[in-house]
Amino acid sequence: MKIFAYGIRDDEEPSLRNWKKANPDVEVDHTDQTLTPATAKLAAGSDGIVTLQTTPYDRESLQILNDEGIKNISIRNVGYDNFNFDDLADFDMKLTNVPVYSPNAIAEHAVLMIGRLLRRIPEVDVKFDNGDFTWAPTVGKEYREQTVGVIGTGHIGRVAIQMLQGMGSKVIAYDVFHNEDIEKQGLYVDSLEELYKEADVITLHVPLTSDNAYMIDEKAISQMKDGVYIINCARGELISTDALIAGLDSGKIAGAGLDVLDHENNVFGQKWGSIDNLPDPKIKNLAERINVIMTPHNAFYTETAIRNMIEISFNSNKDLIEGKIPDTLVYSKK
Ligand code: COI
Repeated sequence: MKIFAYGIRDDEEPSLRNWKKANPDVEVDHTDQTLTPATAKLAAGSDGIVTLQTTPYDRESLQILNDEGIKNISIRNVGYDNFNFDDLADFDMKLTNVPVYSPNAIAEHAVLMIGRLLRRIPEVDVKFDNGDFTWAPTVGKEYREQTVGVIGTGHIGRVAIQMLQGMGSKVIAYDVFHNEDIEKQGLYVDSLEELYKEADVITLHVPLTSDNAYMIDEKAISQMKDGVYIINCARGELISTDALIAGLDSGKIAGAGLDVLDHENNVFGQKWGSIDNLPDPKIKNLAERINVIMTPHNAFYTETAIRNMIEISFNSNKDLIEGKIPDTLVYSKK
């Protein structure tokens, strides 16, 4: 059995070595390159691929894998919005993900972003860098005074809720699928409008689907409280960047914590020397603001997450190759 892995980073190598040691019956080859039409043939002779990228999995790459007889794909991350299921159906391919590699990694990042915004840490940092050790004007707000609206109560949203409750915030939640525990706690509101109306801080923890793309648009923002904070550690396409910029300009939005951005592939994953050199004017506009905290889609990036992403994705791929159906399966035609 042979598995070929794409996009392997140096920080993943130790976990990959461990997996190989525990699975001596599996031949593993890998590249640091992502899956593209130019690299798809590298997997020739393999029974499955393991991959991770934020760019789309285009039909041409899948066609090449299909021509090589490769039908088993396992992604190392959770979100599979960069796959077109029609392509997977046409090529009769199976897809697994890693639904739970570390909800804490992402939830912590979101909760930290909230704290940094509430306590105006970016402004304090600038003052510090200028040798200004005075207090004013960075009067902060406390978590316990905030109503936090958590949109999405899957694994990540639920850990975020626990953390926020630990910090003393009042939490309200919205999801189309209700979780029993969150229901029991009486946290669900009936509509997004209600959440927008009541929340001082809104944090997004939903997968991107065709139904919720750009859900945070001009209308949604107009329904929010004045001075709202918005956190997005889920998918960039959940927020209209134009609407966000307009909301920040008018002061309707007091601040934003963004680990993901619409069109982030124009900017993330590269070294630009300075934010002055960012080629995407909207992302540059956001990055320049003191009340916007931006991180390059690294909310997931912890030792625990990396270890689990490798282990679970390779186990899933091996299962697929052996004809088993792992509980990480997200697509199969049959
Ligand atoms: C995911 O797991 O879906 C993420 O957003 C993390 C990233 C490595 C793609």
